[in-house]
Amino acid sequence: MTLAVLASGEGTNLQAIVDSGLAVAVVLTNRPGAGCIARAERAGVPVEIAPHKGWPSREAYDADLVERLRRHEVDTVALAGFMRILSPAFLQAFSGRVVNIHPSLLPSFPGLHAVRQALEHGVKVTGVTVHRVDDGIDTGPILAQAPVEIRPDDDEDSLAERIHAVEHRLYPQVLRSLAAQ
Ligand code: GRF
Repeated sequence: MTLAVLASGEGTNLQAIVDSGLAVAVVLTNRPGAGCIARAERAGVPVEIAPHKGWPSREAYDADLVERLRRHEVDTVALAGFMRILSPAFLQAFSGRVVNIHPSLLPSFPGLHAVRQALEHGVKVTGVTVHRVDDGIDTGPILAQAPVEIRPDDDEDSLAERIHAVEHRLYPQVLRSLAAQ
C-alpha cells in the first residue's frame, strides 16, 4: 500500500498514523499553514500544498490532486480532516481505496460539527466511524466503528478530546488492515 493522508487542519490523526509505524508516502493539504504540514515535516513525510482557491471547477482542482498523488505512486488515500468534497473522478482514480474518519457513529450526525450535533441531540453514546468514501457526504460503506460515552458534564471540547483519543487508535488499525488487502 502506498498511502497518502489528506488533511486541512491540526493533523492529530496524521500524527497517530505516523506514530503507529505506517508508512505515509505524502501528506496533501489544501490549507497553507495548517498544523498537519509541520507534523508531516517533522516526520520526514513529503508535503503537497494544494490551495483550492482559483480553480475553475472542482473537477479541475481534483485532477491536479490526482496528478500530485500519482507522482508519489499513491494507491490508497486516507482523509483525516480534509475539508473538501471529492469528485467521483477523484474516487475512481483510486479505485475506491479512499477512506475517511468521522467523529460520530454514522449514519448519525454526518457533515460538519458532528460532536456538537451529538451533544445537542442529547444522545448518551456517540463515537467514531471509519468508512469508504463514496459520492455522498459521510455515506460510504462502514469499515469500523467505536463508541464513546457522553458524560452529563461534557461540553464540545471535552467530548471532542475523548473522541480524538479513540480516533487515534481506530484509524491506524483500519489502515493496517487495508494494507493487508
Ligand atoms: C477528526 O475529528 C476527524 O474525525 C474529522 O476531522 C477531525 C480531524 O482532526 N474528520 P485532526 O486534524 O486529525 O486533529
